Amino acid sequence: MKTHITPYYKSRDRAFTLVQGDCLELLEQFKFGFDMIFADPPYFLSNGGISYQAGKIVSVDKGDWDKGGTPERVAAFNRRWIGLCREKLKDNGTIWISGTHHNIFSVANSLTELGFKILNVITWAKTNPPPNISCRYFTYSTEFIIWARKSQKVAHYYNYDLMKQLNGGKQMTDVWQLPAIGRWEKSCGKHPTQKPLGILARLIQTSTKPGAWILDPFSGSATTGIAANLLGRRYLGLEIEEDFLSMSKARREEIENSAIRNNYLERLAKAKIILPTDNIFVAEESDFTYGVPWLQD
Ligand SMILES: C[S@@+](CC[C@H](N)C(=O)[O-])C[C@H]1O[C@@H](n2cnc3c(N)ncnc32)[C@H](O)[C@@H]1O
Repeated sequence: MKTHITPYYKSRDRAFTLVQGDCLELLEQFKFGFDMIFADPPYFLSNGGISYQAGKIVSVDKGDWDKGGTPERVAAFNRRWIGLCREKLKDNGTIWISGTHHNIFSVANSLTELGFKILNVITWAKTNPPPNISCRYFTYSTEFIIWARKSQKVAHYYNYDLMKQLNGGKQMTDVWQLPAIGRWEKSCGKHPTQKPLGILARLIQTSTKPGAWILDPFSGSATTGIAANLLGRRYLGLEIEEDFLSMSKARREEIENSAIRNNYLERLAKAKIILPTDNIFVAEESDFTYGVPWLQD
């Protein structure tokens, strides 16, 4: 299958590409083997409820893409996009999918039905969760990230030694105590469900080597791509909304400034997400000699 898809944006070094569109349609239009996929799909939690944000009570409304999920619709949707993603993974590739109780059980079912082997379920325990304003439940302070490999039989890559080293010489567990997103990560605008760079940097280092190809079918503000490029990996992001694509482009252009780039790396090193910056591999432009082959310049 040979298709030409015109990218919304491609970085000068060709390590970061964004395509605008519905991932269900785009994923059917090309063939490519990625080393890793991260997906932060709609959780379908914009149901008119209320929540607490930056000291204010706000309605839970992330956007139309996050509304209207009956259990049947959510299940069919998850099965469809996860099935399409499976075809885009190398045989030894792995997928990470984040969620809350609203969607994560459906995601786990789809993964199992489609033949993936679930490796871990990471609990992201937020160190600074917002309070529960209804006072009728425990404070919601966790999100889950399922890590699964494509094949039951083909071995996956796990950077065990690095994770242990970053955890002070002890095996890293599947509970990650990390803060919610910081203000410094919103310098190019706000995405309602933007993930922290620290989470993405950790899981990218866990499951890929420098130079790896990473796909995010629900790219949002392209946190996955920014973390990937900071760590010398290559990125393709698919996203429907123009506003989020333009924010992603601004984020990518921001890290062309070496002072900003180094500042982000220093912050990640200080949080012990990455090794001290003089020890990590930072890709040079010459390391990326080709872009995604089926995309027009
Ligand atoms: C939960 S957010 C991802 C946030 C992202 N992880 C970040 O850090 O910014 C989901 C994103 O998927 C996009 N989206 C929803 N349905 C989509 C679809 N079918 N194809 C492509 N993008 C979609 C939404 O516009 C939204 O930006």
